Amino acid sequence: MTTLTILPSNTTFEAEPGATLFAALKAAGAAILSKCEGKGQCGACHVFVHEGRKGLSKVQRAENEKLDTMVGVSSKSRLACQAVLGNDPVTVEVLSFV
Ligand code: FES
Repeated sequence: MTTLTILPSNTTFEAEPGATLFAALKAAGAAILSKCEGKGQCGACHVFVHEGRKGLSKVQRAENEKLDTMVGVSSKSRLACQAVLGNDPVTVEVLSFV
């Protein structure tokens, strides 16, 4: 297990390595918006990864292309449905809960 900390509430949960951030947040009771059911197409699951970014799966081309079309992204941006947890603790800022 690894640790997932959610901002702005600063709550921490145990999370399963190999799960997407989207699935881990949902399992933690902090479900976030999705309009494409986790296919990396809508951008609604945009989060900022404040810590543990290098422990997540690498950004793939499709995610990168989607982020490029969105406003308000930064070097900390990920699509939660595309970022897979590793063994390192991660802190994410969630922008839009369900
Ligand atoms: S849920 Fe649509 S891009 Fe992640």
